[in-house]
Amino acid sequence: MTQLYLGIDLGTSAVKALIVDAAGQVRAAGSAEYPVNRPQPGWAEQDPVMWWTATIDAVRQALGWAGANARVAAIGVSGQMHGTVLLDERERPLAPAIIWADGRSQAQVERLTREIGAERLIDIAGSPLAAGFQAATVAWVKEERSSVWWRTKRVLLPKDELRRRLTGEIMTDPGDGSGTLLFDARWRNWSPDLLGAVGVEPAKLPPVRPSASLAGALRPDAAAEFGLPAGIPVAVGSGDAPSGMLGAGIVDPATMLLSISTGAQVMIPALGVHPDPLGRSHTFASALEPGAGHPGWNQMGATLVAGMAMRWLRDELLGLSGPDAYERMSAWAAESQPGARGVLFLPYLVGERSPHMDARARGVFLGLGAHHDRGDLVRAVMEGAIFACLDAFAALREGGAAPERIVMAGGGARSPLWRQIVADIFGLPVVALATADQAAMGAAILAIAATTGRDAVETARDWAAYGPPLTPNRARHARYAELYAIFREAYGQTIDLSHKLAAFGEAPRRVLSTERHRH
Ligand code: XUL
Repeated sequence: MTQLYLGIDLGTSAVKALIVDAAGQVRAAGSAEYPVNRPQPGWAEQDPVMWWTATIDAVRQALGWAGANARVAAIGVSGQMHGTVLLDERERPLAPAIIWADGRSQAQVERLTREIGAERLIDIAGSPLAAGFQAATVAWVKEERSSVWWRTKRVLLPKDELRRRLTGEIMTDPGDGSGTLLFDARWRNWSPDLLGAVGVEPAKLPPVRPSASLAGALRPDAAAEFGLPAGIPVAVGSGDAPSGMLGAGIVDPATMLLSISTGAQVMIPALGVHPDPLGRSHTFASALEPGAGHPGWNQMGATLVAGMAMRWLRDELLGLSGPDAYERMSAWAAESQPGARGVLFLPYLVGERSPHMDARARGVFLGLGAHHDRGDLVRAVMEGAIFACLDAFAALREGGAAPERIVMAGGGARSPLWRQIVADIFGLPVVALATADQAAMGAAILAIAATTGRDAVETARDWAAYGPPLTPNRARHARYAELYAIFREAYGQTIDLSHKLAAFGEAPRRVLSTERHRH
């Protein structure tokens, strides 16, 4: 019987289960979706019970594909970061989980940042605080739902709730823990200063264990749901960003991950904690323990809009449908030229995280002429999203990051044109990751490391598979460098106007809704 490893990634829109063998070959996969509930504008919640039923579904699918001879030797977990699950004294969820995409805690972000001091907060936590991060969400719950907070026995991150369902054990890991902003990034554990500032009793928080260590064993009730034997060892695991770095085989500071999905992320391993004092990026713990040359942290810049802008263009401007819509858009864009014949796109459709940290930023098409066609518009959107990544990367570079190559992952990595645009804009060679679910893959790597003692770094290197490398074109890189300067200037010159327009666009709706109430 083959020894197999099960990696589960509890994503934002779906849970993915991946079964891999000891050589890192994917043997089977399953997935199940769930909604993000938005009971009020800007809120984002999910039902932890739905996470669990979807996980059962995804794992059963994967086991079905793996066949009757499959023997699962260990399980690892990964998941969406930053979010908050509140449990009562019988370990039942007290309320829906408030996830990372939730914006209700903006006032708490501003208050806590003021009270702690932006510089001190960034120095301790490695990152600025954002709405939806656990520190801000907990502050909101304490202020707005004090009766829930009184009954809260445990505060957990999403994948830690999933692991509790699997094993009955409660814990977290440094990578996911640091995304709460209640953590000391250097110490890799809860920060007494930040817990004090937010007012969280340490007993409500889980103990911290290394990602590649054993968390417990699969409980009989969970085992019965999956159709697996009870007692299978379960590893601690990590958040989807650190786990995805392992799954993508990125374990040294010479390689950067550029992941394009709804938003985009640039991430690079770091040997120490050197947060950006201006708070333009995040330094979170990695899934590796520091020492022996292992990077114990990742530097990350996260942009909010990448694939989202392509979807918006497809649906709202081009009105395209069908499974080949993105391929057609890519083909039109390939007929345009680098620089989209003079159209520039600023992609801030829902604001921006790195480097601007501005929820009120908005998008712009600049330089439009009657000679422009749809291919120019698509190309401008693809280029604008990557200029925003370069902007996020600039903050990492100032902190000393100097990658020699880029690994692209996520849906955007499937477009050869987008890969070439990345190579040309960054002036670095690009390869696409062959596996689709790098976070679930990372969870499987942590499972094998926790149970066999195999080195996680070696396994990550051995397992990662990439497509052929693309090299940057010098002439196009020089041209893009000129255009990037215009992109930066365009942001500076339009941002105030964008803020005014955003406020203007909101106002009539408020007027109309009050009028409707009156009559
Ligand atoms: C990391 C981040 C994402 C979320 C959602 O900062 O926002 O990785 O975990 O997947």
